Amino acid sequence: MKTLKVMVVAGARPNFMKIASILNSIDSHNRLGRSPRIARILVHTGQHYGEQMSNAFFKDLGIPKPDVDLEVGSASHAQQTAEIMKRFEEVLLKQKPDVLLVVGDVNSTAACSLVASKIDYTPSDSGRTRPLIAHVEAGLRSFDRSMPEEINRIVTDALSDFLFITEESAAENLRKEGIPESKVHWVGNTMVDTLLRHREQAAQSTILARLGLQTVGGGQPQAYAIVTLHRPSNVDRKETFGAILEALSLLATKIPVLFPVHPRTINRIREFHLERYFDFFDEVRAVNRGASRVQCIPPLGYLDFLCLMANARLVLTDSGGIQEETTVLGVPCVTLRENTERPVTVSSGNNALAGTRRENIIRLAFEKLDSTPLVRLPKYWDGEAGTRIVQILTQQVRPG
Ligand code: UD1
Repeated sequence: MKTLKVMVVAGARPNFMKIASILNSIDSHNRLGRSPRIARILVHTGQHYGEQMSNAFFKDLGIPKPDVDLEVGSASHAQQTAEIMKRFEEVLLKQKPDVLLVVGDVNSTAACSLVASKIDYTPSDSGRTRPLIAHVEAGLRSFDRSMPEEINRIVTDALSDFLFITEESAAENLRKEGIPESKVHWVGNTMVDTLLRHREQAAQSTILARLGLQTVGGGQPQAYAIVTLHRPSNVDRKETFGAILEALSLLATKIPVLFPVHPRTINRIREFHLERYFDFFDEVRAVNRGASRVQCIPPLGYLDFLCLMANARLVLTDSGGIQEETTVLGVPCVTLRENTERPVTVSSGNNALAGTRRENIIRLAFEKLDSTPLVRLPKYWDGEAGTRIVQILTQQVRPG
C-alpha cells in the first residue's frame, strides 16, 4: 500500500488544540486500515515553549513528542518568521512530505507555508516538486491589517492548495479574494473537536477546588468571571490597557474576576506600572473573595482552563479561540476587540463585541451577566472536522 506523507506544523498555544484533533484523526484512519496509510511527521517550531505555554498542552491533549523541534523561541516578527523559515527549509528538503498541514494564523503558520510554496524537491522519486499546502481554519478575516494574524491569514490562504474552513463567512471572504471554490472545503472546527473530546475529562479537574471556588467533593461552584488578554493592540498601549482594567475593576466589585495571565501581558503590567489593579498569585490557590481587584493566576493547562471556562458566569477575552469555545459551552462571552474574524460566534447568539472603551465593556458585561444566552451551534461544529480533513486529503492527494 502506498503511504501518504503528511507533515503537521504547530508553533503556538492555540495551534496545539487544532493539531490534536488532526493527529487523532490520522491515527484513527491508520488504525482502521484505510487507504492510503498516512505517515505523519510532527514539527514544533518552538514559537511557544516551556512548561506553561507548550509542554502542559502536549501532556493534557496526549500529543506525541514532536519529530522535529525547531526551537526558535521569541523575537520580533521579522526575526521570528525568518528564523522559522531558515530552520524549516532544511526539514522540508530532508523529509519531502506530500502534504504540509498548517493551522490557525500565528507566525509559524505563515512562515512554513511560505517556505513550502517555493521549495523545489527535484530531483525526487515522486515527481512532486513541493508539498501541497493545507490550511486549517482558512478564510477568517477581521479586515484589520494592523493585526499580525490578519497578515498571516491572508498570506497563508493565498499560498494554500486546500483551504479548510470553519464557518460560512470564510467561504465568502475567499471567494472575494479570487480563491477557486474547488480549493475550499467547509469541514467544521478542529478546536471544537478537541473540546468535545476532552469535556468529560476536564470536568474531573480540581481547579475549582484549588481556587476555593467549589468545596472539595463538588457542589455548585461560586459565581466568577474569567478574563484573558494578550493582543498587542490591547496590552501594548497603556491607555487602552488602562481603560480595559478600569472596566474589569468595576466588574470585580460585583463578581470575582480571574485572570490567567499570558507572559506578554505580565511584561506589560510591570512596564506600565499597572500592578494596582491586581492581586497576584504565583501559583493556583484560593482566590480572595470580596476583593475588588482582578485576581491574576499563572497560565493554566488545557483541562484546567476548559473546566474553569465551562463553569464561569462570564468570559471576557481578546482571543479568537475562546470566542469559539464559549460558543460551544454556552458561556456568555464579551470580546474586548472592535472586530472579530469569527462572526458566527456573534450571530449564533453567544458573543458580543465590546471594543476597548470602558463604558461599553461595563455595559455589555453587566448585560451578559443578567442574561441566559440562547445558543445555536454553528454548522459542522460537531467533533468531526479532523475526520473530514483526513478524508478529503486521502481522497484527493496521490501519495508520492
Ligand atoms: C502568539 C500569536 C497570536 C496567538 C498567541 C496565543 C503571532 C503573530 N501571534 O502571540 O496569534 O493568539 O500567540 O498565545 O503569531 N513568551 C513567553 N513564553 C512563550 C511564548 C511567549 O514568555 O512560550 C513571551 C515572550 O516575551 C514573547 C511574548 O510572550 O516575546 C509574546 O510571544 P509571541 O509568541 O511573540 O506572541 P504572542 O503574543 O504569544
